This record gives sequence, structure tokens and C-alpha cells, in this order.
Amino acid sequence: MSTNTKNTLLDRYKKLLHKIEYKEVPTVIRVNTLATTHEKVIERLKKELVELTKIPFLRNGYTTTSKRSMASMTPYMLGYYYIQETASQIPVEILNPQPGEKIIDMCAAPGGKTTQISQMMKNEGAVHAYESKKHRIDSLMNNIERMRVTNAIIFNKDVLEAKGEYDKVLLDAPCSGNLASDKEWLSKRTIEGIKENAKIQEKLLHKAINLCKEGGIVVYSTCSLEPEENEEVITNVLKLRKDTTLEDTDCSIGSSGLKIFDSKKYCENIELTKRFWPDECPTQGFFIAKIRKTKSKRKEK
Ligand SMILES: C[S@@+](CC[C@H](N)C(=O)[O-])C[C@H]1O[C@@H](n2cnc3c(N)ncnc32)[C@H](O)[C@@H]1O
Repeated sequence: MSTNTKNTLLDRYKKLLHKIEYKEVPTVIRVNTLATTHEKVIERLKKELVELTKIPFLRNGYTTTSKRSMASMTPYMLGYYYIQETASQIPVEILNPQPGEKIIDMCAAPGGKTTQISQMMKNEGAVHAYESKKHRIDSLMNNIERMRVTNAIIFNKDVLEAKGEYDKVLLDAPCSGNLASDKEWLSKRTIEGIKENAKIQEKLLHKAINLCKEGGIVVYSTCSLEPEENEEVITNVLKLRKDTTLEDTDCSIGSSGLKIFDSKKYCENIELTKRFWPDECPTQGFFIAKIRKTKSKRKEK
């Protein structure tokens, strides 16, 4: 990677008016109420000399004091918790899955959010978990089994081929990531790559809306901080879709989505989307949008 490209990427971060640098965060777990209770996990981890502190805005999230790998402990193997960073637990909290619903997780592996959806559904209803990459299916299967999920079906398939209609749709899109969670980020990414990802994300978001029933919810999330992969994707897709509206995420932390970047103005109500700036929030970097499907395309014609 040339110094020029690194500088261009860093200049863009400067333009976002935030100090983005690599950030260590404590290990965060999500207690799995399909397998156990909060109290039992707190007790059990005390024996491993790990103290837990509840994260007030998450239903099942705790920060840990562990210096050891939380994945090497027996309660982990028993499915008592999933290691899942704070911001990464928020999209499903916003999706708010309910028992009995039919939900699609469009980009599922390794299954952090699939297993969280099933947990909130109390294993009642159905989750369709799509993952196109064969080599990522094992981790998805293992996590589904370990976390005692019984209402999920895995599709090792490109989700653009998915059919059907769902009450709720989660699109945790493939993205460019960010420097705060990846030390090597600057040497892996280019502006061209970011633009390529944005094109894929737009295609996936159109598909997400098509798969959603009238009145249903689509949650779009990325761990990228690039406006092209976030506010711009939302703007480009929603301006073509008269069957959608942006909704408030009702999330108590994070900042509003950007209204403008590099003289590009984003769509009406874009401030309802959420940005989790790693230099401001007690989380890693993330972007989340909540979209309501207002009427089906068919009726629109
Ligand atoms: C950001 S990761 C998902 C992380 C996951 N939601 C979690 O919380 O554990 C994106 C995943 O989407 C998969 N993916 C990318 N394009 C896809 C497509 N067209 N259909 C299905 N899966 C896709 C990638 O292989 C990758 O595993």
C-alpha cells in the first residue's frame, strides 16, 4: 500500500472531524438466555476470576475484566455467552425480534447476530440465515449449535437469490471495516475498494427491502465509518424506493448520521440513522439505519 493511499484514507477521517485511531476495548459478552441466566453466568465467571459489568443500554451485554481469552473457558463451550462487541449487539436490539416472527439474517456468518435474533425470539418462529461463503458455514453452524438455537435454518447461498417475505430483515452488510478495530486497516483498504463495497451494499439493501413484508422492518448496519458505505447507500437506495421510510432507532447512545460530507447532501431524515464514533462512544465504530417498508411495490404500480 502506498503512502499516498494511506494519507488519502487518513485525510478522509480528518474530514469527518473525528480522531480515528486503533482502539483497544474490553472484551464484551452477550449472556445467552437460551442456555442459562444472567445470575448463573455472573456466578460461574467469578470462579474464573472474571468480573462482569452490565451495559445499561443492552439487554444481555456485559463488559468483562478478563485478560484471558473468554473463548477458552468452559461456560463459553456450554453456550452461556457469545463474545460480541457492544456496538455489534445494537442492530438486533433495534430490530427487536419477537417470538413467532419470520426473520431473515442476510449476511450471517459467524452468527453473532443470528444467535442474538433467535435468543430474542426465544427460539419461537423462524430465522433464515444466509451466508454465501462456504468456508464461513462451519463457524455459523458451530455457533448456532453451541448457543442452543433451534429455530434457524442455514442457507449456504448468495442472499440475492433468496425468495419469500419476512416480518423483519437484518442486513449486516459486508463492508470495509475501520481503523479503530483493525490496526492494519490503512494497508488493506483503498478508496476504490470502498466504492466497490458501496455498490454491493446498495444491491443488498434493495434486496432487503424486496424481502420485507409491508409494514415490516429492515435494519442496515456496517462497521465502516465511510459515508459512501453508510449515509450514501441509504440515500441512493431510498430515493429510488417510494415504499420505504427511515425511522428513529430509539437507541440512547451514538450520534446522528451525517447530513453532508464532501459537499454531498444526504436524504431527508438521514439524521435518524446512527453513527457510533469510536472516539466518542464506549464502543467500536458502527453505523445503523432502521427502515420501515411502508407499502409493497406491487400495490405501488
Ligand atoms: C459483516 S459479516 C456478517 C457478520 C455477522 N452478521 C455476525 O454478526 O456474526 C458479512 C458476511 O456476509 C457474507 N456475505 C457477503 N455477501 C453475501 C451475499 N451476497 N449473500 C450472503 N452472504 C454474503 C460474508 O461472507 C460475511 O460472512
